[in-house]
Amino acid sequence: MSLRQAVYGNLSGMDEPRTITVELGTRSYPIVLGHGLLGGGFDLARHIPGHDCLVVSNETVAPLYFEKLRANLGTIAIESIDLPDGEAFKTVDTMSTIIDRLVDIGANRDTTVIALGGGVVGDTAGFAAACYMRGIPFLQVPTTLLAQVDSSVGGKTGVNHSKGKNLVGAFHQPLAVLIDTDTLATLPERELKAGLAEVIKYGAIADEVFLTWLEENMCSLLSGDGDALAHAIERSCELKAEVVAADERESGRRAILNFGHTFGHAIEHCLGYGEWLHGEAVAAGMVMAAELSDIGADQVDRLRNLILAAGLPVEPPALGAAKLLQAMSRDKKIQQKALRLVLLNRLGEAVVTSDFDQAALELLCDTSA
Ligand code: NAD
Ligand code: GLY
Repeated sequence: MSLRQAVYGNLSGMDEPRTITVELGTRSYPIVLGHGLLGGGFDLARHIPGHDCLVVSNETVAPLYFEKLRANLGTIAIESIDLPDGEAFKTVDTMSTIIDRLVDIGANRDTTVIALGGGVVGDTAGFAAACYMRGIPFLQVPTTLLAQVDSSVGGKTGVNHSKGKNLVGAFHQPLAVLIDTDTLATLPERELKAGLAEVIKYGAIADEVFLTWLEENMCSLLSGDGDALAHAIERSCELKAEVVAADERESGRRAILNFGHTFGHAIEHCLGYGEWLHGEAVAAGMVMAAELSDIGADQVDRLRNLILAAGLPVEPPALGAAKLLQAMSRDKKIQQKALRLVLLNRLGEAVVTSDFDQAALELLCDTSA
């Protein structure tokens, strides 16, 4: 047993699994959340429309959880592929290896792709499922905190391009999301903290009460308390499900989920994928966005202190303003050549706007002076 498993023990923060529905009409789907769900605790096979599946995982996660997942699949025929581990492999080439495997196993339109892993596996496998035969069924089994609270929900799939983060992708909703919180027991601490960045995001953009709860419970979250983590995941999924249901394809409100991400994606891109984790880059990006927002210094400090308490960075690395601004110029929220940012009206309420102080933005980005 690793030290971390000894500290975490069984993340038994819930007695019964909970279900949150992402309401999308005929494409609505459940997020099922609980502990002990992998290994037979949940009948995943009933969410699989056909008789076969391809489990996409990676070289780190598969040895830990693939055999457990098998027990959830009953009589479904199972093929698998393990991707190399890391953000640097979230590429069209990796996606293409999944497509090759689907072709090799004779997959058809009722073959289900199951993503078992963090956001990198989920985004890449989901994109392959979106593209193969113009879209085949897809299930998410997220195993990082970040993937459990964010990337597995909402149907954004895709890969990075050498010129920018997540530049190639598609919307493709899963049929279900199965979150077994026990998987967090093996997650490295740095990854847990990175996931907390996206949890903090929800409080900052949509729920000040949740933000206060996070302030009061950050120590419990960092020590792996099962009840605290279960509540954080559940509330995050509820908030995300609500936003996605209102604006599935990001024609408006959904963009608030990108709070901190315009800066974060630029940091990840400039440093080289994998140097800073996605959640770390988003953490620094959220403080930058708060500083550009028309809110009081006390509110900015409150957010900064919470991010610091989670052990996350609160300012960008020294990259130079020009480099960071250039990377930001490929942001997907740009409209009519104008950069739009997600800023705060107050803690708990976000707005998407191009009305910000350009000189202040340049100053914020210029950490290399
Ligand atoms: P990740 O997928 O790289 O996983 C982090 C690390 O943890 C990896 O080394 C992985 O192998 C390992 N790991 C995963 N589960 C584990 C477990 N239970 N025990 C031990 N190790 C485990 O990173 P991530 O933070 O999960 O995801 C980041 C990615 O998600 C980024 O590419 C980001 O762009 C994307 N993302 C997508 C969306 C979306 O809406 N689609 C939202 C947010 C982030
Ligand atoms: N993570 C941003 C979104 O899902 O829209």
